[in-house]
Amino acid sequence: NTLAQSRGKLWFGTAADIPGTAETTDTAYLDVLQKNFGEMTPANAMKFMYTEPEQNVFNFTEGDYFLDVAEKYHARVRCHNLVWVSQLSEFVTATNWTAEALTQVMKNHIFRTVQHFGRRCYSWDVVNEALSSDGTFSASVWYDTIGEDYFFLAYKYAQEALAEIGANEVKLYYNDYGIESPGPKADAVLQLVSELRERGIRIDGIGLESHFIVGETPSLADQLSTKKSFIQANLDVAITELDVRFSEAPFYTAAGQQQQATDYYTSVNSCMEAGPRCIGITVWDFDDAFSWVPSTFAGQGGADLFNDTLQAKPAYYASAEAVEGE
Ligand code: G3I
Repeated sequence: NTLAQSRGKLWFGTAADIPGTAETTDTAYLDVLQKNFGEMTPANAMKFMYTEPEQNVFNFTEGDYFLDVAEKYHARVRCHNLVWVSQLSEFVTATNWTAEALTQVMKNHIFRTVQHFGRRCYSWDVVNEALSSDGTFSASVWYDTIGEDYFFLAYKYAQEALAEIGANEVKLYYNDYGIESPGPKADAVLQLVSELRERGIRIDGIGLESHFIVGETPSLADQLSTKKSFIQANLDVAITELDVRFSEAPFYTAAGQQQQATDYYTSVNSCMEAGPRCIGITVWDFDDAFSWVPSTFAGQGGADLFNDTLQAKPAYYASAEAVEGE
């Protein structure tokens, strides 16, 4: 993070699954976090099922705890997320809503959450992962019930909620995977940005998740050209969930480590080369022991900058070199 800031980035950050997991009290983990990272994204604490477990019953305890830790470490926070298909409360998914009623639920959730956390958030991922790989909207309770208007309304409500509390500096982002290289999905994001702006609704930036596989990381040219296309549309961009996993064991051979280091270098470098409007880089956890990968992709792993005993890997040093511009 110190290197990244000295090169004009706002941060080099990490996701953390705090509180409620072993990370919360693991002092060795927290020490590495504090020393290396200047931004923290809550892996779970601010998601719908935790912040509004029952309709109009809000619980910001976990989100507040997360922010307390981040602030103690002088880390900024990308608040994550408001409207997504996953980790919803049962009252949302198990009710047969009318479009009007569900729109009201979404509006209430956005207003209460955004206004509670206020300017403690650097930004909000307002809508998360709304699109399929062909660029059309994915099925979700939001899309299936409200139609594509849900997307535009979510940003409108976030903008209004912030304006009401005078926190207009909090940035509004769209965050997704599969938009790191040119293609129909990245094109669709640009189209949605145009439509938001035609409706007079604010969007400030695009989060490129960047969950990659060792040896299959998109090229520097591809990653750079997509970032530049967003920047040309007057958007900030950030790498928001970078990790590079092994699709099968072993995870720690010398050759594998070297390829992973090259892959991290390429992605980090693409943000450095994209100029000041690629504002920062966030990894989706930094410690193989706490990575989300093995529980989602059986047999895969080893995706992070540190191994499962918190030793920095070649990918860590390669990332630092990319940040330094070496
Ligand atoms: O809270 C329960 C706990 O009560 C229970 O005992 C435990 C048992 O498994 O599960 C806990 O919930 C888990 C939660 O993480 C908190 O640790 C869920 O099962 C688990 O599915 C959930 O995984 C999260 C995942 O999103 C859900 O889709 C990961 O931690 C989180 O890293 C991951 O993050 C997503 C981003 O939000 C969006 N982009 C992709 C990224 C990776 O999947």
